[in-house]
Amino acid sequence: MTAPTASTTATTTTTTHRTARAAGALPLVGHVPALFRHPLPFLRSLADQGDLVELRLGPQRAMMVCTPDLFHHVLTDTRHFDKGGPLFDKLRWFLGDGLGSTPHDVHRRQRRQLQPAFRPEAFTRYLPVMLEEVTATAAGWADGRVIAVEDHAYRLIARIITRTMFSADRSSTAVARIAAVYPDFHHGIGRQMRSPSRLFDRLPTRANRRFRQACRTVNEVVDGAIEGRRRGDGGDHDLLTLMVGEGLTDREMRDQIVTMLTGGIGTSASALGWALHFLSLDEELADAVAREARAILPARLRQAVPGSATPAGAIPAGVTLADVTRLDLARRVVAETLRFYPSAWFYSRTVTEPVELAGEHLRPGTAVLLSPYLLHHRPDLYPDPERFDVDRWSPARAAELPRRAYVPFGTGSRKCIGDVYSLTELTLAVAVITSRWRLEPPPGPLPAHLVEPRPWTVIHPAPLRLRLRSRP
Ligand code: HEM
Repeated sequence: MTAPTASTTATTTTTTHRTARAAGALPLVGHVPALFRHPLPFLRSLADQGDLVELRLGPQRAMMVCTPDLFHHVLTDTRHFDKGGPLFDKLRWFLGDGLGSTPHDVHRRQRRQLQPAFRPEAFTRYLPVMLEEVTATAAGWADGRVIAVEDHAYRLIARIITRTMFSADRSSTAVARIAAVYPDFHHGIGRQMRSPSRLFDRLPTRANRRFRQACRTVNEVVDGAIEGRRRGDGGDHDLLTLMVGEGLTDREMRDQIVTMLTGGIGTSASALGWALHFLSLDEELADAVAREARAILPARLRQAVPGSATPAGAIPAGVTLADVTRLDLARRVVAETLRFYPSAWFYSRTVTEPVELAGEHLRPGTAVLLSPYLLHHRPDLYPDPERFDVDRWSPARAAELPRRAYVPFGTGSRKCIGDVYSLTELTLAVAVITSRWRLEPPPGPLPAHLVEPRPWTVIHPAPLRLRLRSRP
């Protein structure tokens, strides 16, 4: 076992930092078992050991940043730290040259090309779709039923993103196909990230076959949408049209769309699952969210039943981004959920040129690990961090939070392009669903609070089954 060693050294940033080697490294494998078997408690244990903590991932050295200022420093010093690292390398083949994976020199141009799809003006087209889909989901449930929450969340979020990015209409087969295969697609990516060798991914297991089929379907749907758009079918202001206008090749467009689907569905779906879980544990909070939603959202959004208030083509209108901002409590639920279980809980950078960080000399190729989960659970930054507490986000208390301590969407030039998009859809989903349904833990052997976090590509709430009770 490696004993933790602490030293105080000057750094490239202006403060001094403690550096350390993480305790508990095993011979040969180092910290891999701890990180893979019990990642969340392991991450929580690191901040006490140092500000920059060295881990051993087999033969590789990796540096985990444990303070908000080092986290910010690594993500904003694009000269020395670029996309890369052990987990990222496993996804690279699959994401191609999409926005999330290209090196910094290419990234700037791509980001400028795609940014217009996420400007506030675009939300006048996205909001009606988000509302229509959330309303239809909530209207499709039946009183007393127990639902597998994450499945519904995946379908809902996949439908919203497919429709907004390709302008597909509600009854489009593209939307239905993406929504149907997305769980296999997402879980397949998670398995690939955890698998020790790509050889395992090629074995003819049922899970691998399903993943390959899901990849084929996603590619077919995306390629079909691109072909259609080149012929001039459908859509006028969506991401596809934007990319055609920017002169992207088919391959480039496919990489960008697959990146949006990969980055935008699992993240938001797991967050929605957790938000509904936390609400199911706190009846008073859920009632307050429901009251707020009823006061702000038009009644027809809550009462719609499939085939009547939201017939195909009739999109609920009249709700603006300003209304979403007024859903203050729902927004706090979402903010606290993303603090507690930030979907993108663990990622990395690689050192591109020799650099000093917190007094440590890092050679090119060194992996630097980043975890919003670790920062969000530091008791010195968030008192009583294991408590789900929406009051942290009241204006007075939020103003007291240490700078740069809340980073569910990252920071710097690679900050999530879909941050406002996902906060909007999640707030609406929490408000509309809670205004219509009380979700409660079903009777059974597993106490509700024991819903186990499964930190794979995102932190999944599994198993999460909730019983629906209609609100009068
Ligand atoms: C709760 C929801 C979400 C969370 C927590 C989240 C989190 C993140 C984080 C932390 C990053 C930065 C990763 C890094 O620096 O390496 C990121 C990047 C990205 N996200 Fe999200 N995301 C969410 C939703 C979305 C949505 C809805 C979309 C698309 C519609 C999206 C698309 C992307 C893309 C394309 C990038 C790469 C940006 C770049 O490198 O310029 N994300 N996301």
